[in-house]
Amino acid sequence: MAMTNVTGLRVGVVGCGYWGSKHIRVLHSLESVGTIAVIDPNPDRALQLSRNYPALEAYKDLDEAIPHLDAVIIATPPSTHKPLALKAIAAGVHVMVEKPLATTAADAREMIAAAEAAGVVLMVGHTFEYHSAVWQLREMVQKKELGDLYYLDTARLNLGLYQHDCNVLFDLAPHDVSILNYVLGATPVSVQCWSSHHANAKLEDVGYLRLHYKNPDVTANVHVSWLDPCKVRRVTMVGSQKMVIFNDLASEERIKVHDKGVSQGPQLGDDLTQPPMSYRYGDVVSPHLVMNEPLMVEDEHFVDCILTGLTPLTSGANGLAVVEVLEAAQLSATQGREVLIEELAGNGPAKVVLDKANGVIHQNGVLHQNGSAPVGDLR
Ligand SMILES: NC(=O)c1ccc[n+]([C@@H]2O[C@H](COP(=O)([O-])OP(=O)(O)OC[C@H]3O[C@@H](n4cnc5c(N)ncnc54)[C@H](O)[C@@H]3O)[C@@H](O)[C@H]2O)c1
Repeated sequence: MAMTNVTGLRVGVVGCGYWGSKHIRVLHSLESVGTIAVIDPNPDRALQLSRNYPALEAYKDLDEAIPHLDAVIIATPPSTHKPLALKAIAAGVHVMVEKPLATTAADAREMIAAAEAAGVVLMVGHTFEYHSAVWQLREMVQKKELGDLYYLDTARLNLGLYQHDCNVLFDLAPHDVSILNYVLGATPVSVQCWSSHHANAKLEDVGYLRLHYKNPDVTANVHVSWLDPCKVRRVTMVGSQKMVIFNDLASEERIKVHDKGVSQGPQLGDDLTQPPMSYRYGDVVSPHLVMNEPLMVEDEHFVDCILTGLTPLTSGANGLAVVEVLEAAQLSATQGREVLIEELAGNGPAKVVLDKANGVIHQNGVLHQNGSAPVGDLR
């Protein structure tokens, strides 16, 4: 385990845009954190943040900052995650990487191996695994409160926000895949995916994934979109006894458990005058949820893991499991077939798709303009 500063951890946030600036705010309330550094080539980021947090240190890149750090949170565009993480790990600095951990499973494995060799913490920012509503969903599945689990469905839709360097699958689906894996306590065995690009000439802005789990034996559907008139953040679980909806946009009663169901009616042969199914309608209950900020819980956990040597709940392996699903989904969308996760086992080459018409290369869902090598190499 790398040495840490006795007067408080020195934590840097690499990339202080929309999400990195939230980490900066949260880190300020953690007792074990001594100094906080903004690391961003855009000087406006440090300038804006220093108005609220005057003690912030500022660096234009990770090389300059590394000698002053015990830990970093990497909140930059996905194509930069691997090279930045490897640089920090090589210097013995603990790392949390925002979702997705990497843009290929091979890259994620390389990061995990490097962190193990260096004896530093590697964690992925799967924020929803620190969300009390998601804990509640998991408990309901574990206690079989819904009866037999029929299927799960998630929707993460909005108009935007389009990203520069990855498609909607790699931007939004990490949340849903991490929620599903966590709630089911399992990872899928295969993935089917259909995706398309409309408003953006190069990057897919609409995606539908179907994840097949074996244990429990259940199917989960994931709809992600940057091209929808309505903002939706919803997880639905349907069982034989009850149905539950987690609406992350609701200001209260984010989880609603519907005590309703449907069963096969009496077998009446060819009698078409009777309904084929019978319906049961009961109460709708909204369980109490612990009020905490998931990002706060997540960052506190990162700091605890550094100080105690605990393996993070969302470890590198957890991040890899999600990246494998994304990679399988991209491959499925490209090849029009179901892809088994075991096809991605080992350190096989990343799936590169040349789009000659647009003069671009897609390495999984990540776009590399003009056929030039991405940050990290094309293999
Ligand atoms: N966990 C969550 O709920 C959640 C939510 C939003 C975004 N994210 C993730 O956070 C990351 C950043 O997303 P965002 O929406 O904040 O993006 P953003 O574009 O708002 O910010 C990215 C920042 O990174 C900086 N940057 C780019 N390359 C850099 C480099 N090499 N070194 C240092 N800084 C660099 C940019 O100047 C910019 O300030 C992404 O991985 C995204 O998936 C996670």
